[in-house]
Amino acid sequence: MDYKRHILVTGGAGFIGSHLVRLLVNKYPDYLIVNLDKLTYAGNLANLKDVEAATNYRFEFGDICDLERVAHLLEEHCIDGIIHLAAESHVDRSIKDPLAFARTNVMGTLTLLQAAKAYWSSLPSGYEGKRFHHVSTDEVYGSLELGGGFFTEATRYDPHSPYSASKASSDHFVRAFGDTYGLPVVVTNCSNNYGSYQFPEKLIPLFINNIRQGKPLPVYGRGENVRDWLYVEDHARALDVVFHQGANLQTYNIGGFNEWRNIDLIHVLISTVDRLLGNPEGHSLGLITYVTDRAGHDLRYAIDATKIKDELGWEPSLQFEEGIERTVRWYLDNQEWIDQITTGDYQRYYAEMYQL
Ligand code: NAD
Ligand code: DAU
Repeated sequence: MDYKRHILVTGGAGFIGSHLVRLLVNKYPDYLIVNLDKLTYAGNLANLKDVEAATNYRFEFGDICDLERVAHLLEEHCIDGIIHLAAESHVDRSIKDPLAFARTNVMGTLTLLQAAKAYWSSLPSGYEGKRFHHVSTDEVYGSLELGGGFFTEATRYDPHSPYSASKASSDHFVRAFGDTYGLPVVVTNCSNNYGSYQFPEKLIPLFINNIRQGKPLPVYGRGENVRDWLYVEDHARALDVVFHQGANLQTYNIGGFNEWRNIDLIHVLISTVDRLLGNPEGHSLGLITYVTDRAGHDLRYAIDATKIKDELGWEPSLQFEEGIERTVRWYLDNQEWIDQITTGDYQRYYAEMYQL
């Protein structure tokens, strides 16, 4: 079949990437969606079970740092759009192993940029109709005071963790390729996502699972840090909108206008899990355990998502109460998905399949 567009999604077996792949495969049957993923600990093809047999979907096992492999893939699939999500994404891991973050997030992004530039500039159409969409984070902007302002697209970069420093660096490379070589790039910076298929090292899935199992809930510091939470399907929708309608060289902030202090969010998680499991009110409150704070812990993130609303008409669709209820239900109903991760079974399966 002749496809109208040929899109490469990197990191499509991860949390946000799998939601984006699902959206694109279902919404655009006339597009070819190619998912390039290295299947690190965070990549899980079980996240894509419902679309893996779709005729307009291809999975490609590979590393974004492998220039030859990426160059070959672009040509083989006639890729005209890239939505780049592959990354090391967990702040705590970046504190332990910053080099892994520089490799994937910085060098991997640079490798993709080089490959896209080389392939597209070799075509008669050049950059016409092409797009490199880089998916980034609000953490590049640093930390806000409690009750203070918001991150806008003009906020100065001020990353504090090795993770956010690596994402900031990758953002700079993307813009440099736009400015220097005219590569048609666009960047989005999003706040904290929540929803199904999130790896259970991140706050929400980790705590839901621990509450279910009666395990301690390790609250960093005093639990007073604030995050702005967005339902992952709303983020995927925003990526679709920016990829198709965003302007070259522009940045769009994406957020939920939905700030929560960690400790307040944890109380919501406890009461929701307890209610859904039929436990008495307050049953799991005793699991809250204050532990040593994360090093360099940013106090508050909050996105001003006015630009994407005014210019592209996107806004969050889901109220937080409904999003959290759906999310808690999903993790409770999909215990097998979590168990495959905690036992390591999902990785043993791929290790055999791809000889890792
Ligand atoms: P994730 O950790 O769940 O998934 C990352 C995916 O990238 C995995 O499938 C992994 O296998 C793959 N990957 C890692 N290294 C790779 C490599 N070298 N080559 C190919 N694939 C590789 O991440 P996520 O939470 O879904 O985040 C996706 C993107 O969105 C990241 O770029 C992250 O910085 C950004 N982001 C995340 C959030 C959030 O709240 N999770 C918010 C804003 C932005
Ligand atoms: O803001 C966007 C970012 O959100 C993304 O770029 C990152 O990829 C994503 O991991 C997320 O980063 P955070 O560090 O904010 O998310 P995390 O779920 O790790 O932590 C959320 C808050 O909860 C943070 O203030 C730290 C705290 N926390 C986290 C864990 C895992 C705890 O108190 N205890 C925990 O065990």
